[in-house]
Amino acid sequence: MLWIHPAIQLIATVAGFYAAYLGGERFLSQHVGLRTQFLWKRHVLFGRIAMLLWLGGLLGGLIIARLKWQVNFITGEHYEVAFAMVPLLVVGVVSGIYMDRRKAKRTALPILHGACNLLLLFMAFYQIKTGWQVIQNLVL
Ligand code: HEM
Ligand code: HEM
Repeated sequence: MLWIHPAIQLIATVAGFYAAYLGGERFLSQHVGLRTQFLWKRHVLFGRIAMLLWLGGLLGGLIIARLKWQVNFITGEHYEVAFAMVPLLVVGVVSGIYMDRRKAKRTALPILHGACNLLLLFMAFYQIKTGWQVIQNLVL
């Protein structure tokens, strides 16, 4: 059962990486002046998958830790970074849904959205490192 959470978060991070690649194409066309194609619907789909799984996986990690160990907040940096991700997840999803529903020419909001979500992606990569340490210290 302890493997469910790492598996979900790894899948989420792959989806997030792909969403970031697609978003990068948009960034190049909007702010750098290159001619690129932005697969809008696909970006929204994979972005949604990543954000939903990250959030669901976070709750799942808490639940499984509680079921297996009867305690939470024993994983140090792993849970600390997880909680720091929560406000970024909210900003990333809300800004994304808003821009998807009301299409318009914008500069600041897409940059905020992209920066926030790229930061999330880096934090998710870092969670792989600390999550692996949790496996070595507490699971294996
Ligand atoms: C891991 C998740 C995500 C990442 C890494 C990401 C990244 C990005 C990046 C880098 C851009 C380009 C920003 C710019 O041009 O300055 C962008 C644009 C956009 N994203 Fe996301 N995004 C994610 C999730 C989402 C979600 C969940 C939605 C909607 C539900 C969404 C909707 C959009 C839309 C509509 C744009 C185009 C905005 C515009 O240029 O008007 N994104 N995203
Ligand atoms: C965005 C990515 C991730 C988030 C937000 C996240 C969040 C969390 C949270 C909140 C807990 C509960 C900690 C506690 O109560 O002390 C947890 C537990 C745990 N995490 Fe993560 N995590 C992520 C990715 C990963 C990855 C990639 C791995 C493995 C390589 C991993 C391995 C673990 C393990 C082994 C536990 C112990 C309980 C369990 O297996 O469910 N996590 N995680």
